[in-house]
Amino acid sequence: MEGRQKLVVNGGKRLEGELKVHGAKNSALPLLSAAVLAHGESVFHNCPQLSDVDAACRILTQLGCKCKRAADTVMVDATNVVGNEIPDNLMREMRGSIIFLGSIIGRTGRCRLTFPGGCELGARPIDLHISSLRQMGAVITEEHGYLECEAPSGLHGAKITLSFPSVGATENILLAAAVAKGYTEIHNAAREPEIIDLAACLNKFGAKISGAGESVIAIEGVQRLTAAEHTVIPDRIVAGTYLCAAAITRGEIILTHCEPVFMNGFTPVLEEMGARIYTYGGGKMYLSCKKSLKAPSTVRTMPYPGFPTDIQAPFTALCATAEGTSVFVETIFENRFRHISELVRLGASIKVEGRVCVVEGVKKLSGAKVRAAELRGGAALVVAALAAEGTSEISGTGYIERGYESLETALRSIGADIKKV
Ligand code: EPZ
Repeated sequence: MEGRQKLVVNGGKRLEGELKVHGAKNSALPLLSAAVLAHGESVFHNCPQLSDVDAACRILTQLGCKCKRAADTVMVDATNVVGNEIPDNLMREMRGSIIFLGSIIGRTGRCRLTFPGGCELGARPIDLHISSLRQMGAVITEEHGYLECEAPSGLHGAKITLSFPSVGATENILLAAAVAKGYTEIHNAAREPEIIDLAACLNKFGAKISGAGESVIAIEGVQRLTAAEHTVIPDRIVAGTYLCAAAITRGEIILTHCEPVFMNGFTPVLEEMGARIYTYGGGKMYLSCKKSLKAPSTVRTMPYPGFPTDIQAPFTALCATAEGTSVFVETIFENRFRHISELVRLGASIKVEGRVCVVEGVKKLSGAKVRAAELRGGAALVVAALAAEGTSEISGTGYIERGYESLETALRSIGADIKKV
């Protein structure tokens, strides 16, 4: 992921203006996986133009699908799915590829893929994915780093209880159960909006899923799914990152094409800090942050509808110049504070103890050369650099491009002095 490109930011500019929020990466990826199950050509609108989405399209092509993109519409013709293997290089490129397991085994009866390596956030085990599919009749063996998954006589429904409301595991079960024989029930399912979006799309394909968004989801397996059109929901994490960028520069911003309801896990924290937020109908939200910000009460990342782990990093950047001490407890991933040492280089005063990080607000950040090590941590460095006095250089932009559609263009359009070199 290491590229030679970097972002150069001259901080201190107040952001003011209107930004459109693009489609959600973490919805587009499972939706592209779902296309494998649907006979015919599926069409996805509002599909973000991201490197992770490109990687997913490469996997689809590898499986024999025909993929076409026109601006933010992606068409996937899965009439002839011939493959059922995800090659190692593609698995390594994006560990999120694991959500192709459920659709490939559902469509072809087998799947071979390499163990998705750990990533920058920690081990990223897939034990819940494997145990759930085994309960549905899949025979899964692990050898030499490969997962061999077979369902010779197809999958059957099962009553599955997840020990943790895993987003990916819930998605893989939905994909496999949609075309399994009989009835599946998922208990302690993930409730993220991306789960609701996937279920809505599968139901357009002809699936029979109810309860998505709740902790218990019921799926009545059907014989065959048929392609349809679907529009990807807005990206709540990108929206939240834009809000943090405006807030740290004491600016004001209007977001369009967003879904405020999906952001209820963290917009109250911004209001508690002193930002003013108004939501209008039609996907519009307004934030202004005229005065200084106060440190919020302890923030704990939780499964949806709690405070999302993906927005933790941009918030730690925002709190770096808030008045008072902020405490963040990262309960979802084991190693999601890698950006903190880089924020300290920008002048932040932050201590990390295991899964807890304590942010002492400082008056000013100062520009420095920093390096992104993962997607959301990279976004946090951009947020901090916007407020840091002087020039900052952020390398590792490849990580940021996985989840943000030309972040520098968007921020420049509302007054940031930022460019990619
Ligand atoms: C999805 O990852 C998102 N990725 C992540 O976003 C997001 O942070 C995460 O959900 C939580 O919301 C995509 O949707 C592509 P999980 P996922 O399974 O599915 C443990 C981003 O920045 N676990 O809910 O991998 C796991 O180790 C990315 O856009 C098991 O122990 O998340 C983690 O600690 C980062 N065993 C926790 O559960 C399993 O079998 C949450 O994982 C699966 C997960």
